Amino acid sequence: MDYRQLADQMARDIETGRLKPGQQLPPQRRYAWDRGIAVSTASRAYAELVRRGLAMGEVGRGTFVRAKVPPTSWPGVLADSPTLLDLERVWPILPNQSRMIADCLRALLRDASLDAMQTLAIPEGDSQQRAVVARFLRRNSWQPQPDAIAFAGSGRQAIGAALAAIAKPGDRIGFEALTYPMAKAMALQLGLVPVPIEMDAHGMSVAALEAAHASHKLAGIYVQPTMHNPTTRTMPADRRIELARFLEATGLIAIEDGIYSYLEAQAPPPLASFSPNRVIFVESLSKRVAPGMSVGMLVLPPPLHDQVVLSLRARAVAPNGLALAAVCRLISDGLVDELTLQKRADATQRVRLAAEMLAPLKLIAPVCGYHVWLELDEPWRAETFVAACVKRGIAMTAAPVFNTGRSSPNAVRIALASPPLATLRAALAVVLQVALSGPDAPATE
Ligand SMILES: Cc1ncc(COP(=O)(O)O)c(C=O)c1O
Repeated sequence: MDYRQLADQMARDIETGRLKPGQQLPPQRRYAWDRGIAVSTASRAYAELVRRGLAMGEVGRGTFVRAKVPPTSWPGVLADSPTLLDLERVWPILPNQSRMIADCLRALLRDASLDAMQTLAIPEGDSQQRAVVARFLRRNSWQPQPDAIAFAGSGRQAIGAALAAIAKPGDRIGFEALTYPMAKAMALQLGLVPVPIEMDAHGMSVAALEAAHASHKLAGIYVQPTMHNPTTRTMPADRRIELARFLEATGLIAIEDGIYSYLEAQAPPPLASFSPNRVIFVESLSKRVAPGMSVGMLVLPPPLHDQVVLSLRARAVAPNGLALAAVCRLISDGLVDELTLQKRADATQRVRLAAEMLAPLKLIAPVCGYHVWLELDEPWRAETFVAACVKRGIAMTAAPVFNTGRSSPNAVRIALASPPLATLRAALAVVLQVALSGPDAPATE
């Protein structure tokens, strides 16, 4: 039987109620064994079920049937699973921003030459675009040079191209023990080997990095010093200096993901400012503006410039001319800075609400942010907690999704960006009720 037929069969079982919302599917090996099929076919069938929005979870750790909640009138549902309220994705879009963007783009179409926008953009953009972005990325005393700027279609593409530039298949890359899942997925796709580096309250531990490098000979690291996804931690300046010294001493290269740093007005200067020849800095507008109106931006160390630009070219991930022109216009008109201020105010309000609503729980929350990290007590496990919330129509992310190490913390990431505030309040009340009532309590829909 082909994997799609197996997925059809499970979909029917979900439809008829033979498989119940929140129920854990059998481990893939057992499922394969029971049917006399290859484990890889079982994996594909499970992945297909997840793709169809009927199940959720992480391969190898457990897959759960998603709740079949009647279509809800709540705004802020997941686009690809419209029965679930989205506390899973971090894509803040303010109600007034479409109008702001439209005004800005109308002006662009009036006075910019459409001829220029129709030409192929190269990863370096043009000198004006590099100058605009270099100015925009300035932070504290850090002033990237225009010639250090390069572009990709998205932050992910920038990270992927940077990984491909600094490592070859089989090389090892250090990641914070909990990390942005797509960065790890891209490393695996490139044939790289992720090595987990322990974190403490200040982010990646330099002692742990040193030990990992001594035993694994790393080719580089990927790190999020500011507003770490998922734990929300921000690395203080002295840890950045210590990490930069380690990079200088070993020649190791770091990819610094600064995509959430816009939320931390008081963050210390980027790691790149402490080790300008060793750090590739990556930014994107998908959080600051919108995921559909984004490009990826890189600040490249001079010794690595050509290597990364070649990687961007060879992977064919330069932005298109229209997107690059539009984004540079949004930046130079001050719209991105304006949206940043508005999003900081919005995020501060949302975190406050989460801290207030979930006060009885162990919540790690920044002052201003679009996600919080909830540590769970036994007998909850992250996956069963997520499944229990799914049963009440709310999607969020279990810690194993972010995990690069052996054992994952018992925690979930709750994203706060999507629903309107009143809906968020109602959803957080449900989350609190789930947490306090324990895994065996029946759902009361
Ligand atoms: C830490 C981190 N880096 C990068 C990205 C992706 O950026 P982009 O949407 O521009 O590809 C995300 C998106 O969720 C993220 O959480």
